[in-house]
Amino acid sequence: MPQRYTVTSALPYANGPIHIGHIAGAYLPADIYVRYRKLKGDDVLFVCGSDEHGVPITITAKNEGITPQQVVDKYHKLMGDAFRDFGIAFDIYSRTSLPLHHQTAQEMFTAIYNKGGFVEQETEQYFDVEANTFLADRYIEGTCPKCGNEKAYGDQCEKCGTSLTPTDLINPKSKLSGNKPILKSTKNWFLPLEKYQQQMWDYIVETHGKEWKDNVVGQCKSWLNQGLQPRAMTRDLNWGVKVPLEGADGKVLYVWFDAPIGYISATKDYFTLIPNSTGNEWEKYWKKQANDTENSKLIHFIGKDNIVFHCIIFPITLLAEGSYILPDNVPANEFLNLEGDKLSTSRNWAVWLHEYLVDFPNKQDELRYVLASIAPETKDSEFTWKDYQARVNNELAAILGNFVNRVLVLTHKFYDGKVPPLAAERESDTELITNLLAKKEEAGTLIENYRFRDALGVLMDICRSGNKYLTDLEPWKTFKTDPDRTATVLNTTLQFTALLASAIEPFLPHTSNKIYDLFNISPLNIYGENLKLLPLSIGHQIKEPKILFEQITDEAIAAQIEKLHQTKLSQQMFPEIKPEITYEYFSKLDIRVGTILTAEKVEKADKLLKLSVDLGFEVRTVVSGIALFHNPSEIVGQQVLLLANLAPRKIKGIESKGMILMAEDKDGKLNFTSPNAVTTPGAGVS
Ligand code: 2FM
Ligand code: ZN
Repeated sequence: MPQRYTVTSALPYANGPIHIGHIAGAYLPADIYVRYRKLKGDDVLFVCGSDEHGVPITITAKNEGITPQQVVDKYHKLMGDAFRDFGIAFDIYSRTSLPLHHQTAQEMFTAIYNKGGFVEQETEQYFDVEANTFLADRYIEGTCPKCGNEKAYGDQCEKCGTSLTPTDLINPKSKLSGNKPILKSTKNWFLPLEKYQQQMWDYIVETHGKEWKDNVVGQCKSWLNQGLQPRAMTRDLNWGVKVPLEGADGKVLYVWFDAPIGYISATKDYFTLIPNSTGNEWEKYWKKQANDTENSKLIHFIGKDNIVFHCIIFPITLLAEGSYILPDNVPANEFLNLEGDKLSTSRNWAVWLHEYLVDFPNKQDELRYVLASIAPETKDSEFTWKDYQARVNNELAAILGNFVNRVLVLTHKFYDGKVPPLAAERESDTELITNLLAKKEEAGTLIENYRFRDALGVLMDICRSGNKYLTDLEPWKTFKTDPDRTATVLNTTLQFTALLASAIEPFLPHTSNKIYDLFNISPLNIYGENLKLLPLSIGHQIKEPKILFEQITDEAIAAQIEKLHQTKLSQQMFPEIKPEITYEYFSKLDIRVGTILTAEKVEKADKLLKLSVDLGFEVRTVVSGIALFHNPSEIVGQQVLLLANLAPRKIKGIESKGMILMAEDKDGKLNFTSPNAVTTPGAGVS
């Protein structure tokens, strides 16, 4: 019986496109692993899908004026297409907005609930009275108690990195209405993680501590040493999987409760697409079998920010239900950086996969090669475009591409593209193949141990050995003097190259296929049983040579660097465009031309000036935050634009009636906006 494997890659949030950091972290390593295991003959199911719940998706929807479902529909398609085009061979790419998922997550919740696995608890949460809703952490903004940042979120200050709870914030404000929220009591269901403290220690440290990656065990130990705490598995929110209990209206499952269950629903989704499915096949990949040896091995590929959810919270969920297997390994990667800076979706600092596929058509394996070579397996690593160019040109093209090309050219030059006979074999010939077989075993073992960088290095060593063999034996020289040797060397090289195509398949599947096509053969399987060591028959016709990897030009690289440079510039200089408004909305703003009559500093406020502004029909007092940039004596007589119907506000005890419109330069300086010729005070602006 083949060993069964349930392999998952983190379900990406359907809230933005996929970038190379995601690929290097969780998708490419999983794809390599799965391709290898499938070639070995294991029974592997590789599942993924879009994570379509969570508060950030509702914020995107609100900002863009569309529904959360529209947001996830857009990104689900974009991500699914990009994964497919890049060659990440999921058996299924599902999504958590499917009814099948909602049902699966609810069943899991209910099963745990019925066993008394949750603790019901009333807690005080922030509530927005005007919007009549509880506020998720991300919907509350206020001043960070640690660094004073006025725009800290309820769960974190992005400036100093401190984790917060909403009640830590000074001056909390609802992002929905701008009002100060009130504290209101609400009931939620908590998973008592602390009850599983010892069991988790045994499972992670005693059972898997030696075999799991150090970074993973280290993070888990740090959580366990702090002592596990109960964690709410439900939230007061509208977007998500409804809590399947009476009296739980307006509550959904916590996104980190439902997302990993998405792996289970994706498995079910896969089997719904298989003809004549009984509907129960998914259980073999998830449930404990009568005999432990028949259990599937569950492997989660993730990035390091997901470790606690996959190593502690999800396993506890599965244990609480009782009938499921636990993760066998969680080979989390560290982070990939880009050109000296952290990858960031919100700052647009990324190489987006869908854009790469357009900018570099048919160059999937070039990126797969580079990302596998620099994968952040043990520590953070860095992608730069120059390094991409160097690795493709000096390694992939120079070693693998050049070797395959030499083989094709020589076969055509001396044998019209037909495989010559093995006429006079020597030890050096058999050695080439024996070495290849030993090396592919080595690469396989490294893949099994999640050491993909090293495995790729071993495969490139195999290519080097082929190049060296040709260079040492110089078959072009012996063609006249010892034609049997030339035939033998070329036959050996051709057989070797066909086998090599199979050895590199987990990493470079598109290239394997190109080589099979050039060689006019069906795919081989060097990792499987019954391998034919001489797959090519004598006289077999090979196609005309074609370059496998074009050189990556300096221009192509410069264009990518320029694109990133533009991103930096645009973020420094231009604030993001605000959501669209209608003309009707705009026409409510009453903007008037005014002339500054007097200006004076406001006491104990470095930034403020108190101005009197002549509007023709009246003189207004306005407090304006321009003192750092303008001297009171120099601005008397300055014409300005004033938002005249802004509700009056008290600033430092002075009633300010209106707001002067200023333009902010890239260095933060505030300049006046005014008519280009002196205009009657009070004139309307439209
Ligand atoms: O960090 C993320 O992008 C999450 N959407 C990962 C979820 S993994 C799993 F639990 F579904
Ligand atoms: Zn802070």
